[in-house]
Amino acid sequence: MSSHVAEKVIRTAETLGRSIAPSAGFLMGAHDLLGLDYMVFQIRKTNPDIKSIGVLGPERDIIVHSDIKERGRKLEPPQGEILERSEDGTFVRKIPGGSGTLIEIESPIVFMDKHLGSVILELDWSVLSTAQSVAQRKVIGLFAVILALGTVSSVLLSSNLTRPIKELSSGVEELKRGKTGKPLRIFSGDELGRLTASFNEMSGLITNQRERLAQDARELEEAYISTVRVVAAAIDARDSYTHGHSTRVSELVVALARELGMSGQELEDIEIACLFHDVGKIKISDAILHKAGKLDPAEWAEMKKHPEYGAEILRKAPSLRRFIPAVRHHHEWYDGSGYPDGLSGERIPREAAIISLADAYDAMTSDRPYRNAMTKEKAMATIQEYIGKQFNPELAPLFLGTVEKMG
Ligand SMILES: [Fe+2]
Repeated sequence: MSSHVAEKVIRTAETLGRSIAPSAGFLMGAHDLLGLDYMVFQIRKTNPDIKSIGVLGPERDIIVHSDIKERGRKLEPPQGEILERSEDGTFVRKIPGGSGTLIEIESPIVFMDKHLGSVILELDWSVLSTAQSVAQRKVIGLFAVILALGTVSSVLLSSNLTRPIKELSSGVEELKRGKTGKPLRIFSGDELGRLTASFNEMSGLITNQRERLAQDARELEEAYISTVRVVAAAIDARDSYTHGHSTRVSELVVALARELGMSGQELEDIEIACLFHDVGKIKISDAILHKAGKLDPAEWAEMKKHPEYGAEILRKAPSLRRFIPAVRHHHEWYDGSGYPDGLSGERIPREAAIISLADAYDAMTSDRPYRNAMTKEKAMATIQEYIGKQFNPELAPLFLGTVEKMG
């Protein structure tokens, strides 16, 4: 064989070995045997003139090999005539054998300053000994392999590096949005793998704390609602004349709400709003609340503040704020002459207009210090009379029908 051709082929094979070694090192570091196999397969497929290719571990055990039967075998110490020894540790050896002489190129695999093993390429000396033109074509072929390998290795490296980072990034985004997902996959035991494990641990802690906080908030809300219920009952109990007022009004309101097609949460909300409707009376003095006679103008002005006082109490708990429109406006009149804001017509919240009917009916049919209770018929007639003035013209007839049905 022309020495010129032999030198060129050996140089090319050396370059090939050196370019494989870093990719093999990364794949070994990532314990990606599938990637190593794929790489060896590509080299053999692209250049059948390479007799064999293998990746050895630090003890010269064959990790992957183009001949699958070789996998797991432990190689003997290097033999044969050393043709060349490079500074980076690459050896070119000529090994005589029964089936022909081989050229063996061994390049060390070093990853993160650790010696992980070596890549071994075997070329058939007899193939190299063909005509120079053929050899030159092989050289070109080897360069093509190098290019192909570079591309494959880049894709593998990029995929192995970016996939865990992408998953970690999307996990952080999901956590920010308050989503509770499955723990992220851990791809390797390196720094990135440890970071993913720490993220999974942190994500679990945050999710637990979030659930505990939500539970605490629910319990706090329930406790506040219970407190306001107690206050509403206490207000009723303060005045023997209005005893049970809030409960009776609630029953009437729920019956009317059902007639109007309300159900579920909507029905529950209007019932609670009803229990709260006079909660502001807690701030009205006994002297006014229990006065036997009619209230003087100043006392009446104070009494008329109870819807605003009620709204102030509910404002302190975010979950109770939705009941404020019903509580604040349950004394508004349809014609705008009510209090505290003088709202009229459809501007009066619907739940307040419903409570207003039941509240007025129960007040009229209850004894007061300065008058006896009206009969059911008289109270209904009074509501009829005040349709369009005090009461909503659509709701009032329905309410009267409900009262009739309830007997
Ligand atoms: Fe009231």
